[in-house]
Amino acid sequence: MAGGGANRDNTGMATIPHDAAADPSGLLSRLAAVVGERNLLTSAADTAAYYTDWRRAFSGAGLAVVRPGSTEEVAQVVALCAAAGVAVVPQSGNTSLVGGSVPIAAAGGRAQVVLSLARMNRIRALDALNDTVTVEAGCVLQAVQQAASEAGRLFPLSLAAEGSCQIGGNLSTNAGGVGVLRYGNTRDLVLGLEVVLPDGRVWNGLKGLRKDNTGYDLKHLFVGAEGTLGVITAAVLKLFPKPSASCTAWIAVRDPLQAVELLAALRARLGDRLTAFELISRVCLDSVIAFTKAKGTATPDPLPGRHDWYVLAEITDGGAQAALAERTEAALMECAEAGILADVALAQSEAQAQALWNIRETIPEAQFANVKHDVSVPVSKIPQLVDEGMAALRAKFPGCVGYIFGHIGDGNLHYNIGMADEAGTRALMAQSKAVNAVVYEVLARLNGSISAEHGLGQLKREEIRKHKSALEFELMERIKAALDPQGLMNPGKVL
Ligand code: FAD
Ligand code: MLT
Ligand code: ZN
Repeated sequence: MAGGGANRDNTGMATIPHDAAADPSGLLSRLAAVVGERNLLTSAADTAAYYTDWRRAFSGAGLAVVRPGSTEEVAQVVALCAAAGVAVVPQSGNTSLVGGSVPIAAAGGRAQVVLSLARMNRIRALDALNDTVTVEAGCVLQAVQQAASEAGRLFPLSLAAEGSCQIGGNLSTNAGGVGVLRYGNTRDLVLGLEVVLPDGRVWNGLKGLRKDNTGYDLKHLFVGAEGTLGVITAAVLKLFPKPSASCTAWIAVRDPLQAVELLAALRARLGDRLTAFELISRVCLDSVIAFTKAKGTATPDPLPGRHDWYVLAEITDGGAQAALAERTEAALMECAEAGILADVALAQSEAQAQALWNIRETIPEAQFANVKHDVSVPVSKIPQLVDEGMAALRAKFPGCVGYIFGHIGDGNLHYNIGMADEAGTRALMAQSKAVNAVVYEVLARLNGSISAEHGLGQLKREEIRKHKSALEFELMERIKAALDPQGLMNPGKVL
C-alpha cells in the first residue's frame, strides 16, 4: 500500500502500511511498536483533523500522526525521529491561530510527523495546601479548571478555546486570555515542567517550589517556544483561592479613551478584585447578534440604546456576595457620576453573567474570516492605536470596518479588519500584507508588539524579522542551535 494509504484492521482503525515504499526507513513500523498501531495514524481520513489549523488557513502533511500515551513513549518517539532525521510537530488542542501546530506545507523536503499529546491527559496530583496541580500536557484546559474547582481552588487561565486547547499548547504559546489582568499569562502560572528534549532525553523539572534560585530558570525557555525547543509532557501549575463572590458588569463607554480611564478608576476603587476587563466594539456586538440569530438563538442587547463601545468587567473576591455587590455598585455609581461611563448593566444571576460572557466568547467565531491582528501597546496608548490605526486604514482602504475587541487591561487588542460585506472582506484579505503594514506602522510608533498572545507560528515568522533586533535573533538562534542542533522541532515556526 503506497503513500499514506492504510489497511484497516477488524476494528476499522487504519493500520500502518508495512511495505517499504510507504515506510522507507522502517520508521513508521518502529513508531507503531512504541505507541501501538492504533495510535499511529497515516490515512487521509484519520490525519485530516491534525493537518489543518483551526482557522483553516494552514494545511500541511506529515508521514503520520503519532499519539503517545506516556512520557516514556514520547521520549522513544522523539529519539526514533531524531535518529531518522524526521521533524516533529508537537500538537495539543490544535487551536493555534498562527498555524503553529500543523506541519508546514513545504518543509524543505524534510519529512515531519505530528506528535499529538491528546492521550496524555492525566491529572497526576493536586496539592491543595501547596496550591499546585501537576497535569499532563494533553489535559484540556477546562478539565484542569474543573479539577481545581472541585478542590475548592481556581486555575485562572481562561480563554474562549478552553474547551479544546490543552495545557501543553497553553504553555507552549504562553497563552493569555481574559484573566491576565489579575493572574498573569501562562508563564506566570507555571512552577515546573517535564520536557522531552529534541534528542529524546527527558528533563524532569516538575518542582512545586515558588522559590528556587539555583541557576538558569530552564522552564522559561520552553514556555512560549511554540514547540521549537522540545515537547512539554507535564507541568506543575499554580492554584489560587476560589472566589466566593463575583460581579459581572456590561458597561457602555464613549470610546477607548474612556475605557482606559474607567479601567484606572475601577482599579483605584476595587484593586485586584478587578479580574477581567474586555473591550467590545459595537461592530463586534452586532456581528454576534447577527451570527447567533442566523444560528437560531437570540442574543439580547444587554443595554437599551446603541453605544459605540462596551466593556465587559468581572470583579471577584472572597467573602460574602452581598458585600462585593455593594462595593462594586458603589464604584460604578461613582464612575457614572464622574462621567466616565455612559450606562451599565450588572448581571443579577450566574446565568445572566454567563450570557454576557457568551457574547465575548462568540466574537472570534462571529467574524470568522477577516484580516486579524493580535497586538499590544502600553495601556495608555490604546486610544491612539484605535484612532490612528483606523484613520490610517480608512485612508488606504475606504469603507473598512474595525472588529476591535479584547484584553484592553493588558494593552492587548484583537484588531480585526473587514469590509461591510463578505465579498469586500474577501477582497481585503487578498491585500492582508498591505493591511498589516498599516497596522504595524502605527504599532511601531507606539512601541507595541505584533503578537501579544497567539505567538508567531507560521503566520508571523517573516514579519517578526522587521520588529526585532539582529542581536535578539542571534540570541534566539543560538538557543535553538544549542537545544535542537538538527532543527527537528517544529520546523518553519517562530524562527
Ligand atoms: P496547539 O494549537 O496544539 O499548539 C500551539 C503551539 O504549541 C504550536 O506551535 C505547537 O507546536 C505547540 N505545542 C502544542 N503542544 C505542545 C507541547 N506539548 N509541547 C511543546 N509544544 C507544543 N490564545 C490566547 O492566548 N488568548 C486567547 O484569548 C485566545 N482565544 C482563542 C479563542 C479561540 C476561539 C481560538 C480558536 C483560539 C484562541 N487562542 C487564544 C489561541 C489558542 O487557543 C492558544 O494559543 C492555545 O494556548 C493553544 O493551545 P492548543 O492546546 O490548542 O495548542
Ligand atoms: C480571543 O481573545 O477571543 C482570541 O484571542 C481572539 C481571536 O480569536 O482572534
Ligand atoms: Zn485573546
